[in-house]
Amino acid sequence: MSIRILPNPQGSFPSIRGRRTRLTHALREMTTEHHLDPAMFIAPLFVVEGKNTRDPIVSMPGYFRFSLDLLAAEIKELYALGIRSVLLFVKVPDERKDNQGTEALNPDGLMQRAIRLVKETQPELCVMTDVALDPYSSFGHDGIVENGEIVNDETVEVLARMALSHAQAGADIVAPSDMMDGRIAAIRKTLEAEDYIHTGIMAYSAKYASCFYGPFRDALDSAPGFGDKKTYQMNPANIREAIREAQLDEQEGADIVMVKPGLPYLDVVRAVRESVNVPVSVYQVSGEYAMIKAAAQNGWLNEEQAMMESLLAFRRAGADLIATYFAKDAARLLTNLQT
Ligand code: PBG
Repeated sequence: MSIRILPNPQGSFPSIRGRRTRLTHALREMTTEHHLDPAMFIAPLFVVEGKNTRDPIVSMPGYFRFSLDLLAAEIKELYALGIRSVLLFVKVPDERKDNQGTEALNPDGLMQRAIRLVKETQPELCVMTDVALDPYSSFGHDGIVENGEIVNDETVEVLARMALSHAQAGADIVAPSDMMDGRIAAIRKTLEAEDYIHTGIMAYSAKYASCFYGPFRDALDSAPGFGDKKTYQMNPANIREAIREAQLDEQEGADIVMVKPGLPYLDVVRAVRESVNVPVSVYQVSGEYAMIKAAAQNGWLNEEQAMMESLLAFRRAGADLIATYFAKDAARLLTNLQT
């Protein structure tokens, strides 16, 4: 994208008045450069064991963990609002956690049952699944821990099997969020070998070691038990590295690449958009959601306006898809505006 300032023989003002195209609602609509559509939203969903459970998440006001029986209604509602994809996360009971993430491969695990339920409820809806060990890890890390280190290659092997297990349960797109090296190629190879040639991969390519994941870790009880995630998630100071990671993932076979978090990283979204030829998604993460909610609850921000302005900013920065906890509210608003 380039901005050209043309020489004007008559000088600028008053022959040039930028306000002419802002004067009326019609003119503003005509000259709108970017739009939002519910089909661009990816709705993250938190799933828990149990029955009749719609568990509020304290640090994410208005967001819930659903048991499978209540998930079906939620899915139908999202689809009716024009949302075309969900991203599934599960909260795993402590007694099922270990260092190898064994439960992640259980064909009857919560994730696998959730995938089947969504596909049965709304077959047209694109089911994306989180692939990483942290909800399953007794250490709360995204990979296997050996001597205090998060070991790469052993983790990648488990991730590939985990992705395959999701594909077998019916996932349309697997979304590795772990930031291990080489995992996209390994997952692609495993899926191809097992004939899951249509199962897509959305790579969390530029995922930063961010404090904005705090509320999410509350939601899934997945905070790291020791240390932090800086040996695998990216340094917030870096952008060249993000481009490199995204390009590598594209070469390894990613169908979609992602930048995460969202608003603090709009420059990264733009840079990645211009560096790859696959769709780019952005994740407006739990902390970003919590900030807007908290300010709105205090009467300091208008929630609806803050939500729509932030979502539009992602489009302007070049994101094709937006994973956001506001998906349902924003879709509802967009749908109501049309009718
Ligand atoms: C775990 C994962 C995280 C998020 C998505 N997948 C947390 C983390 O890396 O610690 C964060 C999502 C959010 O904050 O909304 N692999």
